Amino acid sequence: MTANLDTDLAALEEEGRLAIAAASTAHELEAARIRLLGRKEGRLTAIMRGLGSLDPAERPAAGARANRVKEALSGLLDAKQEELERGQRGSAPDADLTLPGRAVWRGARHPVTLVISEICDVLGTLGFTRARGPEAETDWYNFTALNTPLDHPAADMHDTFYLAPGVLLRSHTSPVQVRTMQEYAPPIRIVAPGMCYRRDPFDASHAPAFEQLEGLAVDEGITFVDLKATLSEFARRLFGERARVRFRPSFFPFTEPSAEVDVSCMICGGGGCSACKGTGWIEIMGAGMVHPAVFEHVGYDPERYTGFAFGMGPARIAMLRYGIPDIRLLYDTDVRFLEQFTGAA
Ligand code: DAH
Repeated sequence: MTANLDTDLAALEEEGRLAIAAASTAHELEAARIRLLGRKEGRLTAIMRGLGSLDPAERPAAGARANRVKEALSGLLDAKQEELERGQRGSAPDADLTLPGRAVWRGARHPVTLVISEICDVLGTLGFTRARGPEAETDWYNFTALNTPLDHPAADMHDTFYLAPGVLLRSHTSPVQVRTMQEYAPPIRIVAPGMCYRRDPFDASHAPAFEQLEGLAVDEGITFVDLKATLSEFARRLFGERARVRFRPSFFPFTEPSAEVDVSCMICGGGGCSACKGTGWIEIMGAGMVHPAVFEHVGYDPERYTGFAFGMGPARIAMLRYGIPDIRLLYDTDVRFLEQFTGAA
């Protein structure tokens, strides 16, 4: 009796496996389920009926075996059902699985953003903290406090976007120097990146809206030596160990003395090429010692404190670094251009 029941169960399990594997639609699978495990007419039910005729001592073991077969088949039925449902949701029967996948558009940081964060990182290692200020400024912060009289050409309506009388889109990041000094006592070391606006033509080398990056260090005893050492080290860390800097006398109303800072051409290494117009040097920023008049405007004692400041255009540096010939490309929304910088730097 038991042997018979065992054979029946084994045969049922084997047949069930085949039937389930062969089912190719939900309908066929359901028919198999009813045939195998259906309560009234199912094969398992028929076998279980035979249990009653067994010796009572043998019944529990036989019942357990029957249950194992039932569970095995139920598991297979469920798995197959899931597989069929998944297939239905997924590819159509005639989908071409050999087609190449569609490339996923991965976001990337803008080349100017890359340069700004790199510069901030380098200056961060030299002790400069990031600061920021508003893009809509008053003419006091943008000009007067920076020792630039309002009749200075830079303050002219012609060069600047005025929003209302006395209020304008900042034409440089230098007002962040003033705001920071008003708020904090020395020692101060900040780096302040941000957008600036000027009535410039939109051509290969000018944009009316552009990023600038300001630096300021103020303490007792700061000299031009600190300025040179800091900017030399900055250039080496940003452009490589062999980069050198040179300072040419210049003029800014808010620094005295003032300088234009050049870095040895990172493209030809100083020998002369088209990027540096054969000079071996590329101008990257303006700099100088903070003018005492600026300290007076923010309430610092110019007899006690000295400091240096610098300002640069990250877009220009990005253009040099990535060989971008026209600044307008940086302010274009064409992703075919921007895509090239995925993973850059
Ligand atoms: N604000 C200047 C400009 O927009 C750049 C600059 C020059 C900033 C010299 C400085 C500096 O802090 O010391 O042209």
